[in-house]
This record gives sequence, structure tokens and C-alpha cells, in this order.
Amino acid sequence: MKEELNILIQAQYPLIYLVTSEEERAEQTIATIAQMKPQRRVFVWTVTHGIVEYGQPRNVTQHNTVSPEAAIEWVVRQREPGIFVFKDLHPFIDSPAVTRWLRDAIAGFKDTHKAIVLMSPVQTIPIELEKEVAVLDYPLPDMAELNQVLSQQLEQTRSRRPTTETREKLLKATLGLTRDEAEKVYRKAHVTAGRLTEGEVDIVLSEKKQLIRRNGILEYIEEDETLDSVGGLEELKHWLRQRSNAFTERAREYGLPQPKGMLILGVPGCGKSLIAKTTSRLWGLPLLRLDMGRVYDGSMVGRSEANLRNALKTAESISPTILFIDEIDKAFAGSAGSADSDGGTSSRIFGSFLTWMQEKTSPVFVMATANRVERLPGEFLRKGRFDEIFFVDLPSAEERKEIFRIHLTKRRREIARFDLDQLVAVCDGFSGAEIEQGIVAAMYEAFAQEREFTQLDIIAALRATLPLSKTMSEQVTALRDWARQRARPAAASVAEYQRLEF
Ligand SMILES: Nc1ncnc2c1ncn2[C@@H]1O[C@H](COP(=O)(O)OP(=O)(O)OP(=O)(O)O)[C@@H](O)[C@H]1O
Ligand SMILES: [Mg+2]
Repeated sequence: MKEELNILIQAQYPLIYLVTSEEERAEQTIATIAQMKPQRRVFVWTVTHGIVEYGQPRNVTQHNTVSPEAAIEWVVRQREPGIFVFKDLHPFIDSPAVTRWLRDAIAGFKDTHKAIVLMSPVQTIPIELEKEVAVLDYPLPDMAELNQVLSQQLEQTRSRRPTTETREKLLKATLGLTRDEAEKVYRKAHVTAGRLTEGEVDIVLSEKKQLIRRNGILEYIEEDETLDSVGGLEELKHWLRQRSNAFTERAREYGLPQPKGMLILGVPGCGKSLIAKTTSRLWGLPLLRLDMGRVYDGSMVGRSEANLRNALKTAESISPTILFIDEIDKAFAGSAGSADSDGGTSSRIFGSFLTWMQEKTSPVFVMATANRVERLPGEFLRKGRFDEIFFVDLPSAEERKEIFRIHLTKRRREIARFDLDQLVAVCDGFSGAEIEQGIVAAMYEAFAQEREFTQLDIIAALRATLPLSKTMSEQVTALRDWARQRARPAAASVAEYQRLEF
């Protein structure tokens, strides 16, 4: 990051947009860069104090530079090389006068070693400036920087130095946080336990989970279920098991590429979300759920993009990780033609997401689920975007049997008491969720009558259910027809799949 910013400044980019909420950290970086040759002075503008030289007290302000126009005019008049940081100019940047002033200013910057840096947590760029501005995302701190934070904390509290292993765990546990947040988390763990050792790693982790949840877009999910609690879908499971160690150093040395992601399409209630969640246990990676619905924020231009970017940034800094995007079809619904309905936000979001997927180098595995394929834009399904697109169909008789077995066992009932073949025959066309509901309904019925539930209760419950595949038969048929040609069946055995293909 420092490198990138340095290059832009050395190359005399006149206007740089730095997207970050970590002002202090970013300012320090700028100040360091300013020390390099040719030395530049650093000035910081805020709407409260106008322009103040970096490092000076706030009352040493350049007079009458509180208004953005006056401040830019002042910058234009400066003769010496300088970096002029504008903090939170975004609410004003759309005004015709400010836009114009900026354009005029940077037009005159050639060979002056002057640069304007716009620093703000959201990215708002008027069309007039789009071509002139270089946008940089200020990344979250890496292990080395977190190490400084931790060392400071240990020194201040005169704590004993942890072993290298413990230190690494403590550092990893704060990946994904800003510098300030990491500092707070270490402090809190220290206050709670009176020390910072192996035992405090969990406190640090749970603090981080809370912090991540607070931004409302990402959520840390912990799932106890294993792959064994998913009935059927053998092909999909096989694929996932095969990649259990795909994120290890060993896999890289072997020459394997990093898996990028998978898309699971399918009929509602057939285990898409379930299998996505259990993958986290299987692979031993944290699972972050990205709530696309919450990414959208119409309150301010650029807000949604900033939300997405922040969430992806967090995911990247926690990597290797699984980024779980459930029901992605809802988020990107109609992004192709949404320009009129929401000012093009969803197609822009969609565009940034695709670009990110294309370009990401950090090990963030995207696991997306969807059940309305017609809503997904074509670019999304193109080969190579995801490593694989799986189709989860209604369970076959064999799979339904396994689902019964799983859910009866989960409720601590003896399988031998039930005639599974008969049950399976009654629920042709049912989803896993509907089978589970059938069992639960039978249990309620019997419980109300203060007795144990039986085969007959389940059959009665199933018969009383009209499955989705009947009530929405057209949609289910359309989805199946579509998916059969374009996606890999999640249930087929390897042999069957090969037969399908050749
Ligand atoms: N193959 C299965 N094996 C075991 N349980 C299943 C299976 N499919 C569904 N279930 C049960 O149904 C519940 C709902 O399934 P899940 O939420 O995974 O469906 P989904 O495919 O994501 O549906 P939707 O498209 O509506 O989101 C699961 O939590 C699980 O209890
Ligand atoms: Mg689901």
C-alpha cells in the first residue's frame, strides 16, 4: 500500500482518492512518503479547521480555508512541493464549484510536485473527475503491522513476551480489524484476563467477531454440523472433500491453483445453505457470511460500493476464509436492467464484485447459493468465474432415505423402528426441508397426545404436505431443464457424471 501510494506520488499523480476510515494510519503513511525526495510539506484540510500543516496544532490554521473552494484556491496558490490531504470532502465534492476548482487545480499541477489526496471512508467521484483521479484502497493492517500493535500493548502493560506460536495466534486473531480496533481488542483481553497469553486468544477472537458483526454486512458463522448431516449430494461432497487441503502451503508447492469459488444452484430446501455452512468445518476455515441485502444503502451516493469494498477487504485480511453469499440471486436480481430503478447501483455493485472475483489473489473462497437462475446475469455463470457450478436437485429415493436417517437420528430415535422404504415412497418430490418438517410435524402431533410418534404419524404429516415441487412445479421444471445443461449435478456419482459428459 505504502508502495502504491508512493509510486503515485512520485509519478506526480495530481489527484489521489484514498478510501479509508483509518485517518491516523493513512496520514502517518503520507507523512513518511513526504520525507522522501523531493521533500514535500503535508497540509490537512477539514471542514472544521480549514487547512492546517501536518503536525501543527489546529489553531495554526491558514485563514479562511474552511470552505472547500477557498481551501482549494489556497492550494493552487502554493509554490512549494506539497501533499494536500482533504479529509471527508465527499459531501461537498458534487457541488459544481468544488468539482470545477479541483479540475482547475490539478490542471496546473504539472511538474510542481503537488498532489491533492482525498481521504474519506466512502468513495464519491463526480463524472467530471473520474478520469483524473487515482483511487486507492487503504488496506487493513497486515501481520507485521499488527505485530507492532501487539508489542506496544505488551510493553505498556509490562506483560511477559508470549512464545512465537502464541504471538502468531494472537496476531491472526486480529486480522481483519483496523489498527485501532486491534489495539482495543488486545487491551480488552488484557484487562479481562490480566495477561495476554495462549488462553486469551479466544477472548480476542470473540471480540473480533463482535466487531465484525457490528458493521452489519459480514457475519462470522459457526456451524456445528458436519458434512455427515447432509444427506445425498455425494458428488458435491466428493468435490469438497477433495479440496480439504487446497489452501495449504503444500498445495501451493505442489503447483495447485487456489480454489476461487463455487456456485450452488438448486431447488429450495434441498440443502444448499446447509452444505455451504458445513464446508467451514470440513476445511477448517472461518466462514464469513456476506449479507448482500445490507450492502445496499441508498442514503448516499457511493455508500453501497464502499460497503461492499469494506466487506471484501475484511474478508481478504482474514483469509484463508470462505465467503458465504447465500441467495446471491436476490442481491443481483436484474442488475442488467436496474439502471432506471436504483440509479444503476446494483449493476455497479455487481460489476465491482465480478472484478474483485476476477482479480483477487488472496485465498478467499466464494461460496454462493442461488435458486432463481434466470435472475443471475450471464457474466456470472461464464466458465472460469467459479471453479464449479453445481446443481442440487430434489433428492432421489436413496437420498431421501438418508435424509430420514439423519433427521431421525438427530432427534435420537431408533431407525429400526421405522420402515424407511415406505416413508421414502410417500414423499416423492419432497425436498430435504419438507422431509424434516414432516418429521417435526409428526412429533408435535404425538407430543400433544402425550405419546411417542410413529411411522403413521410421519406418513400422515407427509400426506398433508403439498411440496413446493408441486405448488411451484413450473419453476422447478424450468430450473431443472436449465441446470441440466449448464451445471454439474450435485448428486450424481462420479461414474454417472462421466457418463453424462461423454
Ligand atoms: N440433503 C439434506 N440432508 C439433510 N438435511 C437437509 C437436506 N436438505 C435440506 N435439509 C434440511 O432442511 C433445512 C433447510 O435446508 P437449506 O436451508 O440448506 O436449503 P436451501 O437449499 O438452502 O434452500 P433455499 O433455496 O430455500 O435457501 C436444512 O437445515 C436441513 O435441516
Ligand atoms: Mg438457503
